[in-house]
Amino acid sequence: MIDKSKIFLRKANISDALLTYKWAVDPKVRANSLNSNVFSFENHLQWFSNKLDSSETIYFILMERFPLGQIRFEKFEDGWLISFLIDELFHGKGLGKEIIKMGMKEMREGVFYAYVLEKNIPSIKIFESLEFESIKVEDEYKKMNLSIKKFMKINK
Ligand SMILES: CC(C)(COP(=O)(O)OP(=O)(O)OC[C@H]1O[C@@H](n2cnc3c(N)ncnc32)[C@H](O)[C@@H]1OP(=O)(O)O)[C@@H](O)C(=O)NCCC(=O)NCCS
Repeated sequence: MIDKSKIFLRKANISDALLTYKWAVDPKVRANSLNSNVFSFENHLQWFSNKLDSSETIYFILMERFPLGQIRFEKFEDGWLISFLIDELFHGKGLGKEIIKMGMKEMREGVFYAYVLEKNIPSIKIFESLEFESIKVEDEYKKMNLSIKKFMKINK
């Protein structure tokens, strides 16, 4: 049982490399990513350690007594681009909404963006329920034949 009153965010660190790799290569996660390619652990490790070292990325793990999911904020346009996931074992408990609310609280003020595939109904519902606005998607994505929604919210 997850006690929602005990969940918290902590910064990701290099010992999360394997955990985040397992999440990243989960077929459901790949199917809901703009880039659906699978990659090796070595590639992930390189990518992950670059992200941890970068001042342009802030990477959190959602915890209870164990890790439940992750959220990443990347510098993007005039604000931050959000990527997030919840471990499949803990879907259906509203944790996706919680991780975004908690992440944005950590990040405080700013403009937040997300790209979501139109088939990703849970994610779309989450952003809509948090009052993100649906904005115009760039032509480059339309050319890739991807059905995508772009969301934006200004956090004051
Ligand atoms: C997106 C993700 C975090 C959502 O997980 P979650 O928080 O457990 O989602 P929930 O099951 O609580 O669903 C969120 C909402 O969508 C609704 N929903 C879920 N599946 C649905 C479906 N097939 N049809 C209609 N509504 C659906 C839920 O009822 C819930 O609505 P509510 O808050 O009004 O009850 C999870 O699916 C995930 O990690 N997916 C893979 C990675 C991913 O897609 N990340 C986002 C990329 S933009």
